[in-house]
Amino acid sequence: MSIIEEIIALTKRRGFVFPTSDIYGGIAGFYDLGPAGVLLAKHIKDLWWKDLVQLRDDVVGLDSSIILHPKTWEASGHVSAFTDPLVECKLCHERMRADQEDEIAAHIKNHANKGETNVLWTEPRQFNLLFKTYVGPVEDSKSVAYLRGETCQGIYSNFASVMASTRVKIPFGIAQIGKAFRNEVTPGKFLFRLREFEQMELEYFVKPNEATTTFEYWKEERMKWYLSLGLSKDKLRFRQHEATERAHYAADSWDIEYDFPDWGFKELEGIANRTDYDLKTHGKWSGKDFSVVDSDTNERYIPYVIEPSVGVSRLMLALFINSFVKEEKRTVLALKPALAPYRVAVFPLLANKPELTSKAQSIYHDMKKQYSATWDDRGNIGKRYLAQDEIGTPWCVTIDFTTLEDDTVTIRSRDTTKQDRISIPKLSDYIERNI
Ligand code: GAP
Repeated sequence: MSIIEEIIALTKRRGFVFPTSDIYGGIAGFYDLGPAGVLLAKHIKDLWWKDLVQLRDDVVGLDSSIILHPKTWEASGHVSAFTDPLVECKLCHERMRADQEDEIAAHIKNHANKGETNVLWTEPRQFNLLFKTYVGPVEDSKSVAYLRGETCQGIYSNFASVMASTRVKIPFGIAQIGKAFRNEVTPGKFLFRLREFEQMELEYFVKPNEATTTFEYWKEERMKWYLSLGLSKDKLRFRQHEATERAHYAADSWDIEYDFPDWGFKELEGIANRTDYDLKTHGKWSGKDFSVVDSDTNERYIPYVIEPSVGVSRLMLALFINSFVKEEKRTVLALKPALAPYRVAVFPLLANKPELTSKAQSIYHDMKKQYSATWDDRGNIGKRYLAQDEIGTPWCVTIDFTTLEDDTVTIRSRDTTKQDRISIPKLSDYIERNI
């Protein structure tokens, strides 16, 4: 089994990720988050929000609709240009993206393995990635709407409302976390390329002459954030987009890439200098004026936008890979404690001893007031440790007969497997000290 296959199996076994509609055979490009996955995603989003909004004075949050006025997507260029080049294999009729060279090569190799060496492709045609729907009871061209292909468009359309309703002044940012939808030609690589996914996007508005320095600032900030999550330095790198691959609106674009096993370095986060393109085009299409006045020079200008943007599920995948440790007798998801679905698991040594269970329950409920905590009283302690190691729980606390005598418990570390005996009132201190 490849590492990715092992990770797919672990994430299903331990309740992180389930294929959507598995009972009906699944649907390509869609995944559900199970009980552990929803907590990991929440911790990722909480840390992003804390770093980009809560701890800063110059960024505010927003939650815009998934369905926006359809003109949004005409103005942004998505209706005409949010496309990928689609080709069809003339042998098996599978449709693929012509620009995904590694996937095209893998497809050709698959055929070659079956002795089929004459793979031919149809001419590329541009395929639009926006999901269409209809608003209201009548399905006609006037009621067409789109599921948002990126979250940032709702930020631009609220730019003036945010400025009018808060004390923000340029430079400032608007941050948003929410679902985005793309009818990808070839979803795949597990969580890497989905058709429904969450984005965490910051649109940071600046004076045009400050765009370049602000861009550099955000590049550094974002790399620091990934390192703070525990992603290995040697698996991360910056890559600047060639002029030919940059989006039409961007003056400069860099990716923070992660080195995925089998696939190599691939985009984790995109950071773009989107210039004044978005506010200008929405200004033109809506008839509104999004210019601001420079308080020093009194000149009017349309702000430039610097945008760091990342998908939650793609980051989850990088974190799964980065923290996956296979040892001889166990597999560990060595996530940073702040990311781990549960900070602590609480076990009564034996499930059939009410005095142990009731003491363990009381400790468990105390722990739950401070941390995300979980309970397990199935099987033997060794099996419970193995399960928690795979979920990534940094500490397991066991309540045994000695606990009833002296109010101490065993606390076992996921990373070292060492056990300490400590008194119950010192539990939280111990956990905090060892983070
Ligand atoms: N607003 C800019 C924007 O959407 P993007 O490079 O298309 O730019 C930003 O997407 C990030 O969103 C990517 O770096 C990636 O992390 C994530 N992303 C994009 N498409 C995705 C997909 N189909 N599945 C999962 N994540 C995706």
